Amino acid sequence: MALKLVVSGVGKEFRIPVIDTVSFSVDAGEFVCLLGPNGCGKTTLLRIIGGIEPATRGTVMLDGKPVVADQRHDRQVGMVFQEDRLLPWMTLRENVALVLKPLGLPVSERRVSADRYLGVVGLRGFEDYYPGRVSGGMRQRGAIARALAIEPDVLLMDEPFAALDAQNRRIMQNEVRRIWRETGRTILFVTHSIEEAVTIGTHLIMLSARPARIREAIKNDGRVERGKLIDDLDAMIMEEVERQQGGDRA
Ligand SMILES: Nc1ncnc2c1ncn2[C@@H]1O[C@H](COP(=O)(O)OP(=O)(O)OP(=O)(O)O)[C@@H](O)[C@H]1O
Ligand SMILES: [Mg+2]
Repeated sequence: MALKLVVSGVGKEFRIPVIDTVSFSVDAGEFVCLLGPNGCGKTTLLRIIGGIEPATRGTVMLDGKPVVADQRHDRQVGMVFQEDRLLPWMTLRENVALVLKPLGLPVSERRVSADRYLGVVGLRGFEDYYPGRVSGGMRQRGAIARALAIEPDVLLMDEPFAALDAQNRRIMQNEVRRIWRETGRTILFVTHSIEEAVTIGTHLIMLSARPARIREAIKNDGRVERGKLIDDLDAMIMEEVERQQGGDRA
């Protein structure tokens, strides 16, 4: 398999040290779930990988090329945030087509491509709807369509289903698995939910309390029985949560 993403020795300080040192690599087509206690630096790590935030140290390589913060990396990385961040005054089609504008595609092609990806996420027939007129789950699908439309090499998803109810969440988990299978994209997915990670990820990375290190990296290949894996990861995250609370009090 081809090496897609290499994170080496990445660290980050704001006023406080947020990421100590994190190194891992991802092969093309893997579905990696990042887990870790609240506030340990997951979003920061994703933003560094996405080239939105500079690292204090270390490097991120995508397809053998360094990711430099704030430089344009057309089509390389798609981001899905916790909130859908759709523009309410634009239809779903217009929202998706908007991100294709900087790529220099003519209007007609942007429209065709937007409709295609809205179809991929199961929103055929809703192209002309405004975000306020569809459900939360459908808005989140719209945000995923927007991220896919630029045909990114890597899709970074930061707790994309956190705002959804349990039922919609399950539906979206299945959808993302299906999209992943059908498009072959490499996905990095942050979640608080161990069950979610074990359900959808091919690889699981558990981060430690802040400043984040890798606590455990697991290939989710069914070798460990699902219930036991969930219990083990639960115990691990509770330890890290306690460690972090201890650190925050000190
Ligand atoms: N731009 C910033 N300036 C200063 N501090 C920041 C900035 N962004 C994040 N931090 C700090 O970095 C730490 C980690 O934040 P981050 O959002 O990466 O954590 P997280 O693991 O995503 O948390 P959550 O589980 O709540 O989503 C926090 O203490 C936060 O206050
Ligand atoms: Mg976060």
